Amino acid sequence: MAESASGVAGTGRLRGKAAVVTGAAKGIGRATAELFAREGARLVVTDVDEAGLVSLRERLAGAEVEAVVGDVSVVEDAGRMIRTSVERFGRIDILVANAGVIPLNNIVDAKPEDWDHVMAVDGRGMFLTCKYAVEAMLQSGGGSIVCLSSISGMAGQKEQSTYGPAKFVATGITKHLAVEWAERGIRVNAVAPGTIQTEALAPIPESYKAPMKAAHPIGRFGEPSEVANAILFLASDEASFITGAILPVDGGYLAQ
Ligand SMILES: NC(=O)c1ccc[n+]([C@@H]2O[C@H](COP(=O)([O-])OP(=O)(O)OC[C@H]3O[C@@H](n4cnc5c(N)ncnc54)[C@H](O)[C@@H]3O)[C@@H](O)[C@H]2O)c1
Repeated sequence: MAESASGVAGTGRLRGKAAVVTGAAKGIGRATAELFAREGARLVVTDVDEAGLVSLRERLAGAEVEAVVGDVSVVEDAGRMIRTSVERFGRIDILVANAGVIPLNNIVDAKPEDWDHVMAVDGRGMFLTCKYAVEAMLQSGGGSIVCLSSISGMAGQKEQSTYGPAKFVATGITKHLAVEWAERGIRVNAVAPGTIQTEALAPIPESYKAPMKAAHPIGRFGEPSEVANAILFLASDEASFITGAILPVDGGYLAQ
């Protein structure tokens, strides 16, 4: 059983697997990297936030971890994230395509550059990291990809005129790649979190957060660890007959 920095023991559900987690310095990505390390994965953690990666590596002391500072929307950086896993661990078994930005704006307030930015990171970044991961997984007989969609990638909401469509890209790429590569042993799934208590939530005004909280039937926002648990399940061999699924982790939001 692998011990984590927090002292909680894992049960080896990813023992021996090589996993790349993008956007691992904060929030859901960090919780996922910590859980994966507890479950025995060998990890490549990536982010634009170098200081955040340094502090994550300290928290993951004892695990096999490589850190790659880079931007998922840049071809060379995205390629390097996947290559690092192949060079260091001989393969990539799991990609968690998590890196993202979460701007809130309606279409009147949104500037064309806002659209370009969120589509570059959340859209193109997911495309690039999935592309290079699929190429590498084909060399080693398969793998598992988990993309970060959102309730905003499944249903319409206010103030989501740029972010929401970018998350529909995540939902779309999950379904299309799942069908494209199922016969070659690559599973592609997504989680669709409701509102989760991460650093990304800090700048959002209470006037937006209060009604959002009320819209989650469970009556609270989620924790990053609750999303990480769902990602772990989809990434692991326990989900061996699941591909193309978009799993809500949303306190019942999408059930309404
Ligand atoms: N927090 C929520 O309520 C929520 C809900 C649904 C979906 N999501 C999705 O979950 C994912 C993570 O969100 P979070 O709340 O943990 O956000 P966060 O801001 O806490 O963490 C995101 C991480 O991605 C990194 N990042 C940003 N741009 C990058 C780039 N170009 N290249 C590499 N790394 C980059 C950031 O530095 C940060 O460490 C996102 O894809 C987001 O859309 C979040």
